[in-house]
Amino acid sequence: MKSIRIAPSILAWDLGDLREAVDICVRGGADQIHLDVIDGHFAPNITFGPGTVKALRKQSDLKFDTHLMIDQPRLYVEKFLEAGSDLLTFHAEVLDGRRFDDLYDTIKRRGKEIGLAIKPSTALPEWVLSRLDKLSALIVMTVNPGFSGQAMDMSTMPKLKRIKEVLDEKGSRADIEIDGGVEPDNVHEVVMRGGNVLVAGAGVYAKSDPVKAIGVLRERAESASGVN
Ligand code: DX5
Ligand code: ZN
Repeated sequence: MKSIRIAPSILAWDLGDLREAVDICVRGGADQIHLDVIDGHFAPNITFGPGTVKALRKQSDLKFDTHLMIDQPRLYVEKFLEAGSDLLTFHAEVLDGRRFDDLYDTIKRRGKEIGLAIKPSTALPEWVLSRLDKLSALIVMTVNPGFSGQAMDMSTMPKLKRIKEVLDEKGSRADIEIDGGVEPDNVHEVVMRGGNVLVAGAGVYAKSDPVKAIGVLRERAESASGVN
């Protein structure tokens, strides 16, 4: 079992006070910070860009896990690398093998990590299978991209289980990141099917004590994974 990592999604906090969102991650002992970049084309919301990532970079050394929900990632990859993203995750829906390889080369040259994300209705594309060794993370989205605060779509669970089996069969070391509607009472559902990185927006920031909420998710996840 890969180690459990908690990744609060700052999109769920007051967007005018993102330094505090990052600070909550630091105080709560989060493993990485999930930054949702949405362009208004790929998904129906507009969030923030590389300038915001760069500004927040000064606030913490935690891993910046940048989830790019954008139609044209090639145009912005360098900007996010310069801004200080550590893991850049692109949507498989806007890529193919050749485009992925090009992004991979750019990111590896800078010593950073690449991930792929799939929407709830997207199956793992065939071209990904021969590239699993390049992947640091696979984001299995459990809500449709766009907004924090949606309920987890449980119809994605069989796909999650299959993806975990495929990754194991192929000897992949990629993290399986679960993104959307993660809450203390459904953490076991995703961890028992192989999810090990838990993204949580409302599951952290909508709680009365967000710092404590990070620890609660970790406890639930570690007990579901058999660590405790
Ligand atoms: C949705 C984003 C998610 C979202 C998570 O487009 O990718 O990261 O902010 O928020 P919750 O955990 O509230 O669903
Ligand atoms: Zn996300």
